[in-house]
Amino acid sequence: MAASLLPAASPHTSCPNLKNTGDEQWMERFSLKKKLMNLKVSSGSGVRARAIMSTGNGKSVEIPRQWYNLVADLPVKPPPPLHPKTLQPVKPEDLSPLFPDELIMQEASTERFIEIPDEVVDIYSLWRPTPLIRAKRLEKLLGTPARIYYKYEGGSPAGSHKPNTAVPQVWYNAQQGVKNVVTETGAGQWGSALAFASSLFGLNCEVWQVRASYDQKPYRKLMMQTWGAKVHPSPSNITNAGREILQKDPSSPGSLGIAISEAVEIAAMNDDTKYCLGSVLNHVLLHQTVIGEECIQQMDAIGETPDVIIGCTGGGSNFAGLTFPFIREKLKGKINPLIRAVEPTACPSLTKGVYAYDYGDTAGMTPLMKMHTLGHDFIPDPIHAGGLRYHGMAPLISHVYELGFMEAMAIPQIECFKGAIQFARSEGLIPAPEPTHAIAAAIREALHCKETGESKVILLAMCGHGHFDLPAYEKYLQGNMVDLSFADEKVQASLANVPQVKF
Ligand SMILES: Cc1ncc(COP(=O)(O)O)c(C=O)c1O
Repeated sequence: MAASLLPAASPHTSCPNLKNTGDEQWMERFSLKKKLMNLKVSSGSGVRARAIMSTGNGKSVEIPRQWYNLVADLPVKPPPPLHPKTLQPVKPEDLSPLFPDELIMQEASTERFIEIPDEVVDIYSLWRPTPLIRAKRLEKLLGTPARIYYKYEGGSPAGSHKPNTAVPQVWYNAQQGVKNVVTETGAGQWGSALAFASSLFGLNCEVWQVRASYDQKPYRKLMMQTWGAKVHPSPSNITNAGREILQKDPSSPGSLGIAISEAVEIAAMNDDTKYCLGSVLNHVLLHQTVIGEECIQQMDAIGETPDVIIGCTGGGSNFAGLTFPFIREKLKGKINPLIRAVEPTACPSLTKGVYAYDYGDTAGMTPLMKMHTLGHDFIPDPIHAGGLRYHGMAPLISHVYELGFMEAMAIPQIECFKGAIQFARSEGLIPAPEPTHAIAAAIREALHCKETGESKVILLAMCGHGHFDLPAYEKYLQGNMVDLSFADEKVQASLANVPQVKF
């Protein structure tokens, strides 16, 4: 999905800053606007001199000053998002009820690099550069000749990679004078990242937290409230989308698709409110590329080249953030790592979904995006990795997958938690349930190396800590965790509702 979420019929008047232009004019305006924006930010607060981190061998790593846009280097451009009514490519002004102009421009940008505003770099320096760590003790535990590295994003204030995009999203909204932002959250990580970012810029923040996660993770809710956000369980009685679901199933565990519908509905109904999304869209993936850009510097500094790069995929943002800069290097022919996405068997959009135009949310309010989907009304079982319970995949990742630049696999949650325990007891860190999928896949690869004697370099995205996910660990440790998969009929039923769109 390249795109964005808009109400099928917006009650807003279209944004006066965005005219109904064709793609090229859109991009021209983007370049001009970007120059203006850069002037504006460079006269603002200064960037801290720090932003440098030692790699341990004297070389240093700097916080990237630009985000990387993979679209610029792809041999085939991704299919456009379509307006759900006209079935024509979405225009910038269609998106203006939901997003500030600069993010809309980034969404459609084909520029290779996009400047990171100074104030955003300054805030990034609270936790960036993030460490790249060799998992020597895990290697020893497994008895593998492989060298395993992990890029750790759990040191951010919210405990994951999500602030990498929350901060610029709120910053661009603040620049445009927006006062309120709304969003959904699955694991609670994205909601807390947005609450944190909103508190920095004085915006009001309202979050629809998927019911299963709202019940499982009271401390995530409290974190959001600590940063000043209002939190609702989703489905809620506040929105039409939520009420409709509750009528059919009063004890619905919710899903990311439903929570997105609720937040989008509120943004669409209120002129002073914009919507923020924590994954899936191009601009979100773009912001996350700071992870991979830093990691390239770090691997280079220690003279390593990854043979396999592994990340978990919910909507795909941490995976894209780590891998897209490496895919750029792969396309240049400099390196040739295997790029592997890992999803839960309970919600396997890449490995079991269809590649088709579908809605990004359950109620069908968003543009149609070409992506791997299990159907927009597929409600995954409540696995512990709440952030991976999304019916679709980032359209840009789906496109890269279709082009053959990456592969995908699905792993059940018990194997993931077994790997997480091995990781915690050897490396010390307690992973969030989502990256346990990447850890389990890395362990599979490392054990394969043990059999073959290969000393591959395995790089994995350790995108967050699990300090607020301990009830999931309790379930596993008490032997009460079960592997949830779904009957084929369930996915067939939701796939039957995927709109038949030929574009
Ligand atoms: C820690 C963590 N990792 C991964 C994800 C999945 O999202 P994405 O695929 O966009 O990285 C989430 C989503 O909430 C998350 O909280």
